[in-house]
Amino acid sequence: MKTIITPVLRFWGFKRHPFDDRVLSNTDLDLFVDRKTEIRRLRNALSNPLSGVFGAQGVGKSSMLNKLSTLTRKEGYAVVDIQMSGTSENLLYREVLASILREIKAGKVQVLARMKLKVDQELGRVENSIQYTSAVEATGETGWKALLSLSLKTGITQTEEHSLQKYTEKTALALIKKIALHKKEPFVVIIDNLERAKFLINNEDAYFQFITKFAQTIDGLFSGAGVPFVVTLDQSFADRIDNHLPGVEEAYSFCFGQLIEVSVFSPSDLYEIIARRLDCQNGADMIDSFIKKDAFWALVAATGGHPRRAFAVLREAMELVSEKTTQKTISLECMCTAVEQCGEKLDQKDVLIFQFLEKTGAHSSSDQTFIKDVGLSRAQLHKRLLELHKKGMLCVEEEVVGKSKRDTYFIKESRG
Ligand SMILES: Nc1ncnc2c1ncn2[C@@H]1O[C@H](COP(=O)(O)OP(=O)(O)OP(=O)(O)O)[C@@H](O)[C@H]1O
Ligand SMILES: [Mg+2]
Repeated sequence: MKTIITPVLRFWGFKRHPFDDRVLSNTDLDLFVDRKTEIRRLRNALSNPLSGVFGAQGVGKSSMLNKLSTLTRKEGYAVVDIQMSGTSENLLYREVLASILREIKAGKVQVLARMKLKVDQELGRVENSIQYTSAVEATGETGWKALLSLSLKTGITQTEEHSLQKYTEKTALALIKKIALHKKEPFVVIIDNLERAKFLINNEDAYFQFITKFAQTIDGLFSGAGVPFVVTLDQSFADRIDNHLPGVEEAYSFCFGQLIEVSVFSPSDLYEIIARRLDCQNGADMIDSFIKKDAFWALVAATGGHPRRAFAVLREAMELVSEKTTQKTISLECMCTAVEQCGEKLDQKDVLIFQFLEKTGAHSSSDQTFIKDVGLSRAQLHKRLLELHKKGMLCVEEEVVGKSKRDTYFIKESRG
């Protein structure tokens, strides 16, 4: 596919921007950097009727769900991928049903003949019902006015309106359940962007109740049905039941078999992400000439390994370089400007900490050369190292020296 070669692409000699912000799917999944722990948890979570995935905006939830889809399909199971459309939480089950019916129509999900499912007819009805309800919600009109706007598009007659109104979330759920009972093979249902319900409902309590009710419905209807659901959730939901994670008694009222956090990337993973995107362009190992090491550490320190934020800063830095120099390298100075222009904050001391640890390996905050190199007091350095560890940018290990113990900090090696 041909795309516009923008000035920045021409300068860098790229055909496509390596750091455009795209959800990874299909062949783009070649760019997917491991997330081994999260993927392991997710795959094993499929023995539960319902699992939730949560994490900051733009941290990589959709891409990870796509990775899960691909792996699940490779194992021979069908997957129904649903994007919560963002117009109404009232249409959720009808949208789920429509997606399942489409997969049945495509021959991916198979049901037993004795169910006597009339796929085309059901699909037509549920799609019309979705359109009808959307029209009612958008215009606030019911009855013939909503029908009129719909019939213009679909040719629905007034006599059919009655049956449309009878097609509800309840009947949709009943049909999904029936399909689950008559399926030939288990299949997985993934609902991405369900966390958007929070913005639609625009009230944290109501959102919490919506998810709880949804979870109870799924758990109640599909327990042991061989149709696991995986959905995305807002951080606020996870925070709220933080003390009641699975295994704790109260958790059962929420019905989530697993809640899996998608977190920011470690420095080595972020490095790998950048390297892979550059390799895709030139087929060569070019990251060292693309970005100076100190500039990379500034990027890590400023964005904390958050991919969408890191890409925004990298795009800005690439434009700044193309404007100001002829050399195709992102320097520390240029990175600092890009960080500032993207509204990110950078603590230069963090860059010094990363540089020191990268050069010399694991150290504790009581090490005199470390203290001197970074230019912080021992207490300040200790606090800073702890913070970087909490944010996932540094690893920590306990070291026993004689009778005393101390924490040493280090940068996780790239799996390369
Ligand atoms: N494992 C990964 N390896 C490489 N790049 C990734 C990975 N996961 C996400 N990204 C990149 O990070 C960015 C955000 O990813 P994605 O859209 O999947 O996040 P999200 O959490 O679903 O975002 P939103 O909150 O907007 O729905 C994208 O540019 C994507 O290409
Ligand atoms: Mg997403």
